[in-house]
Amino acid sequence: MAGVDFHDGVNKGVAPVTYGAGDRPPRGDYRKARADYTCEQDYGQYSAADHETYRRLYTRQLQQLPGLACEEFISAVQQLGEPAHIPHFDAVSERLMKATGWQVVSVPGLIPEEAFFALLAARKFPVTDWIRKPEEFDYVVEPDVFHDLFGHVPLLFNPVFADYMQAYGAGGMKASRLDAAELLARLYWYTVEFGLIQTRDGLRAYGAGILSSAGELRHSVTSANAERVAFDLKRLMRSRYKIDTFQATYFVIDDFEQLFKATAPDFTPVYNQVRQQIAEQGEIEAGQVLPGERRFSANVMTAGQAR
Ligand code: PHE
Ligand code: CO
Repeated sequence: MAGVDFHDGVNKGVAPVTYGAGDRPPRGDYRKARADYTCEQDYGQYSAADHETYRRLYTRQLQQLPGLACEEFISAVQQLGEPAHIPHFDAVSERLMKATGWQVVSVPGLIPEEAFFALLAARKFPVTDWIRKPEEFDYVVEPDVFHDLFGHVPLLFNPVFADYMQAYGAGGMKASRLDAAELLARLYWYTVEFGLIQTRDGLRAYGAGILSSAGELRHSVTSANAERVAFDLKRLMRSRYKIDTFQATYFVIDDFEQLFKATAPDFTPVYNQVRQQIAEQGEIEAGQVLPGERRFSANVMTAGQAR
């Protein structure tokens, strides 16, 4: 996410250079943001059509949560408040602060990773303030307010997950110093964005990229055309990922405690071991399963989900 001009992670009023982006710079007005990239949520900017887009996205997604999203997410999603319009971030923050000491802060869009890590380490979750255009209803390239808020914020009401996110931010600042940000980004991708969790009732999604996606939610949990393997930190850090299609591989955790404990040790030696393994055996492609690796089978679709 960080470009050379932004190595200090301090906003200078222009859009950050990002990984894997096309010719188009990130959307959003970075002139209005403070040095730490946060800005006011300019609530007056939203049109009636914007609120309607949010309402339609929310409604569509809410109805497919049962049987696909984890209980921790489902029980917290109503904390976002009134689903008929884009929430006021301050109101969400007030509830979140009481629950886990986190806050939601507004940002103009994607921000450089140093700035992102620093906010997470301070228990502030950056949420993009703009919403996708109606013609982007099913797919938007960059995260918008619906992805950031609906996808990420409900799990910040869970104490263990909330602590994991803060630890990730602190770990990110260290990874930048160790030149290991790309390895750490894989952890974020395969857990925070695209993680699955094993429950008594079968697999469920907890990753925000899945939970905010109309198609991938059902795909990740029920499709036979995806690999699902047990969470293993070093295996995961060797694994490449897809940014423009549904994931070919998902990593499955038993619970958030497992995730927190597995990521608590100092990563300095872990990064070195993973680099060594990559040098000797290469990276693992998305969709590739290693010999002897345990695979989880897809949930059987229920009648309600078979649409
Ligand atoms: N334990 C990690 C480190 O020392 C920090 C971390 C925690 C990273 C949780 C990601 C998630 O770098
Ligand atoms: Co996200």
